[in-house]
Amino acid sequence: MSKLEHTSLIRNFVAEVKGQVSDLLHDPAAMDELKALWRDYPVIIFRKQMLEEQEQIEFCNAFGQCEAIPRKDIMSPYHQEVIYFSTLRYADGSFLGGFAGGDDVQWHSDQTYLPSPATGAALYGLEVPKGGGDIYWANQYAAFEALPDDVKGLIEGKTGRFSYAKRLEIFNPKELSDKTSEQATKMKQLPEVFHPVVLIHPVTGRKAIYADPTTLVQIEGFSKEENDRILPILFEAGGRKEFSYRHKVHNGDLMLWDNGCTMHRRDEMRLDQPRLMKRTTFRLSPQAYCTPQ
Ligand SMILES: [Fe+2]
Repeated sequence: MSKLEHTSLIRNFVAEVKGQVSDLLHDPAAMDELKALWRDYPVIIFRKQMLEEQEQIEFCNAFGQCEAIPRKDIMSPYHQEVIYFSTLRYADGSFLGGFAGGDDVQWHSDQTYLPSPATGAALYGLEVPKGGGDIYWANQYAAFEALPDDVKGLIEGKTGRFSYAKRLEIFNPKELSDKTSEQATKMKQLPEVFHPVVLIHPVTGRKAIYADPTTLVQIEGFSKEENDRILPILFEAGGRKEFSYRHKVHNGDLMLWDNGCTMHRRDEMRLDQPRLMKRTTFRLSPQAYCTPQ
């Protein structure tokens, strides 16, 4: 008998699961059902959660190894696996976490600028602004399927060059201005990395575009003209409205997603309302998930 109550919000893309994650953690059968569900629905929403940081870490560890974050400037003071996004400040005036600005954040996939991105992510909204800040996810399997056949043929098997410097130019200069100069220098000097621009699910064989517009600068082996023609096609398909889901975030929402086959973005949000969100990232197995490794 099924123990997990869920609703499909978008078929084979987004599901909402009922119940408390802290209870699921102690129910191996329900966790197995959840893992199976996540294979079909790469975005899962849980509402009205009351989660300790340790529980969020344990939950992620059930899917893949939760990773410690090297960014001390945005890390939880309690757990190195948890980072904060917040408008709140400590007593010394520094922000609790990253991305303290209210500007919208454009389509991206987390950690594409790293050589080995942890593609699983969980975001827990403890205190969420009432105005703005909606989060969107876009299905990159659907985006790939919608590409013209000639574009599919050109990009399959190709490698992209991904640069953190591009992302900094697009949406991080404000964040950098709040960092110590040593941290800012370290971030600016991250080397470029290489990933396939089409990821293939190891079990289903489905193909997803892996083309983060905030970091992908070129496809290796393409001429400048080819890059200038193909990259905008991939970026447009990846963020198309018909492949995306819009989520109005409420206090207590836990959002679980797979960065290998989705992108996400966030609307502009108000800065005169408090925000505290906690994120964990975890390393999914390339034998079971669509990952760039
Ligand atoms: Fe993100």
